[in-house]
Amino acid sequence: MMATSSEASKGAPVVAIRKLAKSDVPTVWMILQESPEAAAWSQESLLQLASADPAGWVAELNGLPVGFLIGRIAADEFEILNLAVAAAHRRNGIASKLLESALEFSRNVSCVSAYLEVRVSNVPAIKLYTHHGFTESGRRVRYYRHPVEDALVLSLNLSGNH
Ligand SMILES: CC(C)(COP(=O)(O)OP(=O)(O)OC[C@H]1O[C@@H](n2cnc3c(N)ncnc32)[C@H](O)[C@@H]1OP(=O)(O)O)[C@@H](O)C(=O)NCCC(=O)NCCS
Repeated sequence: MMATSSEASKGAPVVAIRKLAKSDVPTVWMILQESPEAAAWSQESLLQLASADPAGWVAELNGLPVGFLIGRIAADEFEILNLAVAAAHRRNGIASKLLESALEFSRNVSCVSAYLEVRVSNVPAIKLYTHHGFTESGRRVRYYRHPVEDALVLSLNLSGNH
């Protein structure tokens, strides 16, 4: 996930993916404040997740967290619970790098599929996931509140994607 030394020497942004740490919580929470489409978790919830050694990652740009992804393993499935990238750093492939790390981890722990729920109106997120091979596998009617909206369930078969 690191840029090559030639990229770094040309001054290209260096994005690195690493595991989420408790010290990331304030920055991750700030990213959530500018991401109303993401699940609105409190700092307390984030701290609990970060303390429990979750399946969580941050993307660092020149050493500063600019995106995160948190998931969980449920039996042989990997569920993506939350994902956001700081508004100023979107469309630079950062969510893709986070997603690729999470999917690689999922395969390594023998998950057979990955899935998530997303608001039907969240076109950027739906395009991101379909770009990575996810397809619609269900719909949960009136799943979200504020505003009330359906969720699409998007899934990816991991066993056929090695
Ligand atoms: C959705 C989100 C995480 C995408 O992050 P990102 O770092 O900008 O995504 P990437 O740069 O890796 O995008 C990869 C691909 O996804 C698709 N995509 C991402 N954002 C898009 C947008 N705004 N419009 C259309 N397609 C988009 C494109 O296919 C893109 O590839 P391209 O840039 O080569 O065209 C970001 O917009 C975000 O944080 N949104 C708010 C929180 C959120 O919605 N979270 C998801 C909850 S399920």
